[in-house]
Amino acid sequence: MRILFIGDIVGSCGRRCVRELVPALRSEFAVDVVVANAENAAAGLGITERTARELFEAGCDALTLGNHAFRRAESYPYLDREERIARPANFPLSSPGRGYSLVEAAGRRLAVVNLCGTVFLECTNSPFVTVDQLLASLERQRVDHVLVDFHAEATSEKIAFGWYVDGRVTACVGTHTHVQTADERVLPGGTAYITDVGMTGGHGGVIGVRRDAALERFLRMTYARFEPTDEDPRLHGVLIDADGDGRARAIERVSRALSA
Ligand code: FE2
Repeated sequence: MRILFIGDIVGSCGRRCVRELVPALRSEFAVDVVVANAENAAAGLGITERTARELFEAGCDALTLGNHAFRRAESYPYLDREERIARPANFPLSSPGRGYSLVEAAGRRLAVVNLCGTVFLECTNSPFVTVDQLLASLERQRVDHVLVDFHAEATSEKIAFGWYVDGRVTACVGTHTHVQTADERVLPGGTAYITDVGMTGGHGGVIGVRRDAALERFLRMTYARFEPTDEDPRLHGVLIDADGDGRARAIERVSRALSA
C-alpha cells in the first residue's frame, strides 16, 4: 500500500494546492490512499463541512485534525457524522467526532489515528496511554495498517512518541509546526517516521500567516488579525510504502510548488 500524507492544509491557498496537485501526484506515484491534516483548512483555523467536502472531492480519502479541531462550532454535527475525519483521540470521549477513521484501499484496511501532544498544547489524556488503548481495540478490528498523525509542538515529544509506537504502527507522522523536517526514516521496528510533514499553503509568510500581521505582533505587541497568505503556494507531504505485514518499507518527503 502506498500512502500520501499531506501536511497541514492552510486556508484557501492550501485547498487550491490540494485540488491542483493531488490528482497528478496520485497517478505519478501510484498512490492508493491520500490522508491530509486539515485542522487549518477553513480560513486558517478549524474545519467546516464545505472545506472538508472540497478536500474529499479533490482526492483526499481521510482527514485528520489537531488542537484547532473545534474552532468552528457549526461543524460539530458534521464531525459527529463524517466517518472520514479523525480528531485527536486523546480529547474527551464526549467531544464531537471520533479519534480514528478506517479506510479500505488496495484490498487492505488502514486505520488513520489522530493524537495531540501535551507539551505547549492542551490535552486531557496522555497520547502515550491513549495509543495503547486504541491499538488494542484496532487489533480486534483486524486492521492491516495504522497511520498515526501525531499533532504536537515539541520535537522531543514527537521523537519520543515515534520510538514508543515503533513496530506497532505502519507510520507515525508529525504535524502542527508547519515546517517540514529532514529526519524521515523507517525506524528499526518498521514504523515510518518524520517529526513534521510540513505545510500545504502559502510559504511566503510565517507558518502560513501573512508576514506583515505576524511581524506587527512581534514588533509592536498590537493586535493584528492573522490571515493566511497566498504567496509561494506549495504542497508538503510524505509518501509511505507499506508491506502486507503492516510494516513500512520506505518514507520519502514531497515538496511540490504550485505554478502560477
Ligand atoms: Fe495545530
